[in-house]
Amino acid sequence: MALTILVVNGPNLNLLGNRETDIYGRATLDELMADVAAHAESRGATVRHVQSNLEGDLVAAIQQAAGGGEGAADGVVLNAGALTHYSIALRDAIAAVDVPVVETHLSNVYAREDFRHTSAVAAVCIGVICGFGPTSYHLAVDALLHRLETGD
Ligand code: DQA
Repeated sequence: MALTILVVNGPNLNLLGNRETDIYGRATLDELMADVAAHAESRGATVRHVQSNLEGDLVAAIQQAAGGGEGAADGVVLNAGALTHYSIALRDAIAAVDVPVVETHLSNVYAREDFRHTSAVAAVCIGVICGFGPTSYHLAVDALLHRLETGD
């Protein structure tokens, strides 16, 4: 069975392509997700995608990733947007499930405003990737598949 990766995108990522293009680039979310899906497929994995501007939807997606139902996934690529920096609920959801999660950002959050240097979720993720634009998502998929396939 092909591994399934859930990509979760949080608040304002639906605006990609128009939003602060100097920071986030010109690709739309649909274009970015098509590119990520193609990358995962080239590695034999399947991608599902959820985007929401609501914290509770992201918590639910993480919870469902660990369930046996429709939302189930082997691992999660999470770009929680600004929620990264303050959502204890999201952190608790990640800590509660036995599914590896990679914190992922398009921009290098550590080269930006101080409030972006704090992550509420990093400590419960298997790792953090930021600063590579759309390639951040490729790297996150690769890191997850490596973990899932080898245990490393
Ligand atoms: C972001 C970085 C966050 O600080 C910001 O709030 C976002 C996007 C990124 O992908 O670079 O919405 O997660």
